[in-house]
Amino acid sequence: MSKAKLLVVDDDPLILSSLAELLRDEGYDVKTCSCGLDALRVVKSEPIDLVLSDVNMPDIDGLQLLREVKAQVPDCEFVLMTGFGSIENAVEAMGIGAYHYITKPLIDEEIKLLLDRALEQRRLRSENEYLKKELNIKFSFDNIIGRDHKMMDIFNTIEQIASTRATVIILGESGTGKTLIARAIHHNSDRRNRRLIEVNCGALPENLLESELFGHTKGSFTGALKDKVGKFELADKGSIFLDEIANSSSALQVKLLRVIQDKELEKIGSHDTVRVDARIILATNSDLWEEVEKGSFREDLYYRIKVVTIDLPPLRERMSDLKPLAEFFLDKYCRENNRNFEKFDDDAIQLMQEYSWPGNIRQLENAVERAVVLAKSDSTVITPMDLPPEVSEEVPRFVAEETSNGEILPLKEALKNPEKRIIEAALRANKWNRQKTAAMLEVNRTTLFNKMKKYGLLAE
Ligand SMILES: Nc1ncnc2c1ncn2[C@@H]1O[C@H](COP(=O)(O)OP(=O)(O)OP(=O)(O)O)[C@@H](O)[C@H]1O
Ligand SMILES: [Mg+2]
Repeated sequence: MSKAKLLVVDDDPLILSSLAELLRDEGYDVKTCSCGLDALRVVKSEPIDLVLSDVNMPDIDGLQLLREVKAQVPDCEFVLMTGFGSIENAVEAMGIGAYHYITKPLIDEEIKLLLDRALEQRRLRSENEYLKKELNIKFSFDNIIGRDHKMMDIFNTIEQIASTRATVIILGESGTGKTLIARAIHHNSDRRNRRLIEVNCGALPENLLESELFGHTKGSFTGALKDKVGKFELADKGSIFLDEIANSSSALQVKLLRVIQDKELEKIGSHDTVRVDARIILATNSDLWEEVEKGSFREDLYYRIKVVTIDLPPLRERMSDLKPLAEFFLDKYCRENNRNFEKFDDDAIQLMQEYSWPGNIRQLENAVERAVVLAKSDSTVITPMDLPPEVSEEVPRFVAEETSNGEILPLKEALKNPEKRIIEAALRANKWNRQKTAAMLEVNRTTLFNKMKKYGLLAE
């Protein structure tokens, strides 16, 4: 680490030289000035980490100097030396932004300690600011692309609720940006300097998940060799993101309800109540209400968590975002891979707009990354050839209807029972997922169900 740069200001040449010597011995890079105006010139012209200044000087006094320095270089630390132990000056100085004051006669050890602390504080502050900036840029809305009005509404909701403690549930198909939005909520909240703990509830077996979330005491089950602090406790004063909650067991759902409602939990194997203040963000790509109807998700929990619901639309329902998203990823992956593509040609854009993107934004991101890596670098444009085959070769659906083995139907046949065929094609395109098919055809699920029954499509 480079030496910290100090500027010592005092009109008494003896004090000035002895301070300079003391601080140089401590390993600082020290400059000296015998008046305030000189000091101000130095601060303006070179990077100074800390100013140590006398109060009474012939031209501008120490307080005036402090004011000017803070106005010019706000993050420069300032320590004032007061001649008569005058507390008024000292209090005023702290109000203007001095780190501290020190009274004469000066004691070497005191000066060393104080400066050391002031510089440590400065280092921490700039480190913190750097980290915060990094995170805030990463999760600022600038990096979440969305011009579609549905996305604008979502951004507004996030801004409104970010700094509240409200539980939020994020719904959406895989790859629609649920994780990204969860992080954005945390990083736009006033808990941003605390932890965001992320747990993928779908990835852990039930019993492990419970101890992961709530912790356990030593010996509470075979294999519990020591006490374990749960994720909820780790997220205290911060946020916890529970991804894929739809499949959690009923025992876990009871505990979840309690921690959401009462901010309380008990570790496995303990009767002591632990209080936690964690902001809870949940996500799932299943239809939770369907789970409630099936009896696999508690109704009371459902109502408790759906107060703030963010429903992320699939990409195919916000196609106005396609081009900006594709361009955002083009820029990102060109930079990552040191390549120089400027844009997509019109055909490529059109193909991407006609494709249905079942894997949503993640699929688009992968397609663009692949194009950037594989496209010939003698061009600056991405063309249809560079897109993955599933995108570039798709026959637009509902224009030419296919039989179930992929042949195009003659017009006469296709006209015989268009409704059945459209529904069947849509079901096939959505891998027979009824919820997605209903959404795609913009009918409700009961209508879809009745029509499937009518056309004998239920057996599939
Ligand atoms: N609006 C957006 N702007 C820019 N990038 C986005 C946007 N939405 C999603 N992404 C990017 O797309 C990818 C997938 O998003 P994310 O992981 O958040 O989806 P998800 O809904 O959590 O998926 P899963 O259900 O599989 O967990 C990520 O790389 C994410 O950064
Ligand atoms: Mg996710």
